[in-house]
Amino acid sequence: MKKVLITGGAGFIGNHVVRLFIKKYPDYQVYNLDALTYAGNLENLKDVEQSENYHFLKGDINDSLYLDEFFSKHQFDGVIHLAAESHVDRSISDPLAFVKTNVFGTVNLLNAALKIWKGNLEDKLFYHVSTDEVYGSLGETGYFLETTSYDPQSPYSASKASSDHFVRAYQNTYKLPIVVSNCSNNYGPYQFPEKLLPLCINNIKHNKSLPIYGKGENIRDWLFVEDHARAIDQIFHQGKVGETYNIGGFNEWKNIDIVKLLCSIMDRKLGRETGTSEKLITYVTDRAGHDMRYAIDASKIKAELGWEPSLQFEEGLEKTVDWYLQNEDWLNNVTSGNYQDYYSEQYQN
Ligand code: NAD
Ligand code: DAU
Repeated sequence: MKKVLITGGAGFIGNHVVRLFIKKYPDYQVYNLDALTYAGNLENLKDVEQSENYHFLKGDINDSLYLDEFFSKHQFDGVIHLAAESHVDRSISDPLAFVKTNVFGTVNLLNAALKIWKGNLEDKLFYHVSTDEVYGSLGETGYFLETTSYDPQSPYSASKASSDHFVRAYQNTYKLPIVVSNCSNNYGPYQFPEKLLPLCINNIKHNKSLPIYGKGENIRDWLFVEDHARAIDQIFHQGKVGETYNIGGFNEWKNIDIVKLLCSIMDRKLGRETGTSEKLITYVTDRAGHDMRYAIDASKIKAELGWEPSLQFEEGLEKTVDWYLQNEDWLNNVTSGNYQDYYSEQYQN
């Protein structure tokens, strides 16, 4: 039996990882530690919350005393760390919130794990989930490799880069067994509608404008969230201690093209005339310091662990749209209240 701690399990990617672990490993005890910030939502785990091998704990990784007690009580065998502030635009308006959770919170977690595991590091693992944004921005060619130098450009990516450095420093200095993965843009069910795709799905539904930053020419490499969760599972169980694995979809899209594809899918699903949703596209002021292109070379994880994306993008996007249309209550709940204030502030309307 293993006791695994997953942080940020009530967030977008975390809930898919928690669900996969609960179902695939009935002999594990899965602990989900989450502060339930605006991005955390227990509704995301409603279908599995009664599982015998699942435990939810509301707690903040910024609270080191709480973490020490929590680790000493539960004696985890492994940690999969996803809890973070994750939205680039919010990092531009409030950088310190990102330093706090992403840097300070991660170091608190490293300290708590080290205290408990010290002297018996065998079969323990601290898995840090990170992003491709730490590598900076690409021009028209080239890919991010595990060996690419860090060059973060936003407060969000700078905070994630810093946390990655701390995780590796803890292995070098204290021999803490760690592994890191850096993944490209995820999409799929349960993503908070501050991010491009769910925001556009929600706006199309309500005939609201679709805010495209700058000229819409920035490129992202999209991966279905369940494929990311599968990669995390494989890295946790088969990854080599001390290694870094890049995870990506081999699937680059310009923002404007992906939004146009989404519009055509939504027109079809909503029974609207072709071209209706595209008319909602509105070019707005660019994101400050907007990274131009991300593209992951995921050949290492493919060669060493046999992982590759399972879904074609169009199929994944259809599945995603279906999920949002079928889960109207979820979408309405997360877009009421504070979301409206965030939206007016961010988009000034
Ligand atoms: P998210 O914002 O949807 O979820 C973050 C979760 O962390 C939420 O449940 C939130 O309540 C929790 N959290 C925040 N601060 C906390 C704190 N102080 N203590 C405890 N819990 C806290 O984020 P996501 O998109 O699911 O991303 C998860 C991780 O994956 C992040 O580390 C992110 O950097 C990384 N990542 C995300 C993507 C992506 O496309 N979304 C891609 C690559 C890597
Ligand atoms: O690459 C991995 C990263 O992907 C993760 O580490 C981050 O947590 C995640 O948020 C995501 O970052 P992005 O900034 O790439 O995602 P976002 O959905 O915010 O934006 C995608 C692209 O769309 C980006 O080029 C900015 C643009 N955009 C975004 C929004 C919200 C718009 O044009 N308009 C918008 O309203």
